[in-house]
Amino acid sequence: MLILIYLVSVLCSVRGAIFYDSYYGTQITREDVKRHDKANTTFWCVNEIEPCDPHEGRRVDGSCNNLQHPTRGATHTPFARVLPPVFDKNFEPKKAASGNDLPLARYLRTRLVSVGRVPSPLFTNLAIHFIVFMSADIVSLHDTVNYIAWKPYCCLERGKTDYMCAPNKIPDDDPVHRFSGVRCVNMTRPETFQTIGCIKNDTAPERIVSSTPLLDLSVIYGNALSSLMQKGRSFQGGMVKTELDDKGRVWPPSTKTQANVCFLNQRPQETRCHDMPEDGGNTLAGINLMVVWFWRYHNFIAKQLAAVNPCWDDDKLFNVTRDINIAVSLQIYYYELLPIFMGYENMVKDGVLTSTGGFKDDYNPHVLPQVSLEYPFVLRWVHTVQEGPLKLYDKDGYYLKQIPIVNLTLRTGYFGVDDNMDYLTQGSFRQGSAQFDYIADPDVTEMGLGPHQYVSDLMTNDLAKNRYFGFPPYVKYREFCFGKPILSFDDLHGIIDPERIEILKEVYEKVEDIDLLAGIWVEKPIPGGFVPSTFYCLVVEQLRRNTISDRHWYERPDRPNAFNLAQLSEIRKVTIARLLCDVGDTVERIQPQAFLKAGYANQMCSCDEINKIDFHAWKDEKCEPENHWTKYLVY
Ligand SMILES: *[C@@H]1O[C@H](CO)[C@@H](O)[C@H](O)[C@H]1NC(C)=O
Ligand SMILES: *[C@@H]1O[C@H](CO)[C@@H](O)[C@H](O)[C@H]1NC(C)=O
Ligand SMILES: *[C@@H]1O[C@H](CO)[C@@H](O)[C@H](O)[C@H]1NC(C)=O
Ligand SMILES: *[C@@H]1O[C@H](CO)[C@@H](O)[C@H](O)[C@H]1NC(C)=O
Ligand SMILES: *[C@@H]1O[C@H](CO)[C@@H](O)[C@H](O)[C@H]1NC(C)=O
Repeated sequence: MLILIYLVSVLCSVRGAIFYDSYYGTQITREDVKRHDKANTTFWCVNEIEPCDPHEGRRVDGSCNNLQHPTRGATHTPFARVLPPVFDKNFEPKKAASGNDLPLARYLRTRLVSVGRVPSPLFTNLAIHFIVFMSADIVSLHDTVNYIAWKPYCCLERGKTDYMCAPNKIPDDDPVHRFSGVRCVNMTRPETFQTIGCIKNDTAPERIVSSTPLLDLSVIYGNALSSLMQKGRSFQGGMVKTELDDKGRVWPPSTKTQANVCFLNQRPQETRCHDMPEDGGNTLAGINLMVVWFWRYHNFIAKQLAAVNPCWDDDKLFNVTRDINIAVSLQIYYYELLPIFMGYENMVKDGVLTSTGGFKDDYNPHVLPQVSLEYPFVLRWVHTVQEGPLKLYDKDGYYLKQIPIVNLTLRTGYFGVDDNMDYLTQGSFRQGSAQFDYIADPDVTEMGLGPHQYVSDLMTNDLAKNRYFGFPPYVKYREFCFGKPILSFDDLHGIIDPERIEILKEVYEKVEDIDLLAGIWVEKPIPGGFVPSTFYCLVVEQLRRNTISDRHWYERPDRPNAFNLAQLSEIRKVTIARLLCDVGDTVERIQPQAFLKAGYANQMCSCDEINKIDFHAWKDEKCEPENHWTKYLVY
């Protein structure tokens, strides 16, 4: 797949484009590019960008977001760091303060996080699907594919001599695997600008990913200029290509070849596999659902806009539709989903949300459009609230069956058979997430990659990867976030429950040895919210960075093609319940706050009772006055 993308990007090189070094962001010459071509590193180490136009809208490839630094915002550009890294010699993971090795990641996981299955009475699975979907926008899969497919030998003899292999040892007295005999789980080091060959090995490893650092629905629209412009669009009415199944359900186009990424499709019945600008939509089950919905929502918006503005051509409709679709995803993420986890008041106080309902205009061109390395990493705490079984319900709320969510990774075919899409949609807002309680689901801790691996503890890998990024210890972040230095285990009182401080004392020699994620796993929640306080702090740091550094942020009044106040007010009406009413299969009734379980003050009601966007706010006076027929289409 990478080779294909590489070829396409070579074939489509645009005349007049400028070449930049992906790491430094500086302009380079054609000679430099030739050197990269020769070393096969052009795809990763070179950004090819058309000259910026300050009046142009958001580019699909993220370039020209910051006019002074045109590559920042594009793929393969460096992360920011909240705190500078700490490594041992040769940039190996740091050791304990005493010089000893830190405890094994799997040992820490089994000691600090219990395993069980406790449903949340508050949050729905839909909330977890959405947060996973928004993370997929800014990360890439190659670090997982690497140990599943490209270097499947990390636990074997051969792995010992491969620098990239970094498998996790399982202790002999492991509570689960003392019975299975498994003593090693696969893992590779994260790819960096160094391992890919962009910069020399004598500098601190800098992670490289193939997503854009911007929240711009990359999973729908892709990351490369060539991808969406040629692949997903139908070039009619601003719409994207779709296909109908025999029950009339609308899907993104499906590949017709057998060789695709949906490796777990149970053939011959299961054949569906999305053929979209990016393969991300076929990965995790939650992402897959969201991708189908946002893909359909694009056409829903385009049809409404076309009815209001009959004179708009395909290009205009497509551009405005994409802009609205991205804004809808951000509005739901920032204003509906995250506040229920993190506390609305907290987020207003910390400058992430505006409580005025109007514009939020705090663009700062000196802050680059980047993601902090810490952000996607601490989001992995969400693994602790992921339920293992995915439950399927019919539209009257009757439970039908369940399947482990991990069995649906790279298995889009399952969604396409037996009316499963209807039942998974209903299940998403009827089933609870896992409880926020220091207990993780056994599927997450033992078979997190489903049939793709024999054994996989997602949380052990999360913690172990932490170490390869060189994050300073938990106490340093705690001090960064809340000011007060933590010098001893006793200083953790009030921050972590006493019984968990006891465990920390048993497993770590010194308080400054505690790994960032380990500390977050056991921390008490932020007042006014449900998430660990250091998680809150590092997530908010990035959420604020997004609104400040993204020149095309949807709440800004003076970006190119900005929404006017009436349009922004319409965007602010949207909810996940409305989105499901508009494009979800068999959704006729739903609770208004669908990230929360239905119940008192959030009773299921007819979709007619849930607020709609009025697309007349986008009415263009240049078009003919609308007639009764188009009015009928909108309502
Ligand atoms: C570059 O990639 C091509 C095709 O995969 C391969 O044949 C060639 O050996 C590679 N060149 C270098 C310098 O690695
Ligand atoms: C850095 O080291 C890795 C592993 O030995 C190697 O694959 C990579 O090519 C090196 N990068 C550079 C720029 O020398
Ligand atoms: C739509 O966006 C593309 C890419 O940014 C741009 O080239 C084109 O001019 C835009 N078209 C309209 C009608 O706004
Ligand atoms: C899920 O996958 C596991 C293998 O990882 C398999 O043993 C199990 O039968 C599968 N469950 C279902 C319901 O498909
Ligand atoms: C490690 O990966 C290999 C190749 O995919 C697989 O055969 C092996 O079972 C994996 N190890 C575990 C513990 O899952």
